[in-house]
Amino acid sequence: MKLPPQDGTRFASAWSDLAGIGRDHRRGGYSRHVFDDADMQMRAWFTEQAGRRGLDVETDRNGNVWAWWGSSSRDAVVTGSHLDSVPGGGAFDGPLGVVSALLALDELRVREVHPARPLALVCFAEEEGGRFGLPCLGSRLLTGSADPDSARRLRDGDGDSLADAARRVGIDPALFGPDPQRLASVRTFVELHVEQGRLMRAADPRASVALGSEIVAHGRWRITIAGQGNHAGTTLPADRHDPMIPAAAAVLAVRRLAAECDGAVATVGRLVPIPGGTNVIASSVQLWLDVRYGTTADTATLVDAMVMQIRAEAEMEGCSVTVHRESLSGAVTFDAALGLELAGSLQVPVVATGAGHDAGVLAAHLPTAMLFVRNPTGISHAPEEFAETDDCLAGITALADALQGLLT
Ligand code: GLV
Ligand code: MN
Ligand code: MN
Repeated sequence: MKLPPQDGTRFASAWSDLAGIGRDHRRGGYSRHVFDDADMQMRAWFTEQAGRRGLDVETDRNGNVWAWWGSSSRDAVVTGSHLDSVPGGGAFDGPLGVVSALLALDELRVREVHPARPLALVCFAEEEGGRFGLPCLGSRLLTGSADPDSARRLRDGDGDSLADAARRVGIDPALFGPDPQRLASVRTFVELHVEQGRLMRAADPRASVALGSEIVAHGRWRITIAGQGNHAGTTLPADRHDPMIPAAAAVLAVRRLAAECDGAVATVGRLVPIPGGTNVIASSVQLWLDVRYGTTADTATLVDAMVMQIRAEAEMEGCSVTVHRESLSGAVTFDAALGLELAGSLQVPVVATGAGHDAGVLAAHLPTAMLFVRNPTGISHAPEEFAETDDCLAGITALADALQGLLT
């Protein structure tokens, strides 16, 4: 099949296909969570696009979708990203890598590239952990870095289990788990992603595209502060055990302690008082802590200091604290030889990132690389996330160049 040369038309068309899927009118932006209606519509769109291109599409045992150009047996070059979003997220984080994978394939065909090995396009499941809390769930299960039993038991905010959610969309959760044969069939993975920050601008303000060098260690913790639910009007100050007090102190302590460590960032982006009534002293508060700093040991040490502070604050209010680690991902340095090869051929700057990616999970098992597309404001995980179409097209061309080198 011969397709017209790469231009903005097919990019605009793909983007407009996706624009209406999973819009979140309450938060703004998009909420597309694994196996929900929006995610399934995104998957259906990808499947249809891949089918139009004559690719063989399959969903693996962990809910990741693969589209194959050529036999899937061995030595494959793989590109792609994810279709899910954070709550109220932007349009680009994830889908840009998937759309670019499809259009880079078109570009290779226009160039009449005859690949010496298969190319697969992949959409990884639940990259954001936006529904079940564990980021990069699909790639972690595939590589064996998430325990399938624990994964099956994960619950979303409505109490729905991952196992039930998977079953409802026709995926058998009993099959979740490592997929060594599939993993062994992949030679290289390249993920294109919108930049999520402003390091590209610092490296080279004229660059539309950059190569990723490393990902900092990062993790998530769910902290429950339990007090005594009570009446907002009748409970005397001395009788209160209000978990909102240590929760508020926790938010401030997290920022203060992170500021004391060069390069560390820490965020409380989600805080839920239970039961959540205006005239009710909460009985407990759940807050989620996202910490990113150096190595896993650096991150864990910083979190220990934060938890110690939160416990002290809770004790003063007569509250108790329980801590559950949802995830901890080590620092990643992308494959040096592949990075050198791509930096030489693409002539783009090289930047690190503070964001997690499936490429970071796969990096422990095979050579991986990331391409970033300029984001003029650096804003991400928010409705304002943006990239200019010309920069996206430059990203697609760079991805096609990279894939061409790897496939031939
Ligand atoms: C994913 O985008 C993350 O870094 O949390
Ligand atoms: Mn993200
Ligand atoms: Mn992403």
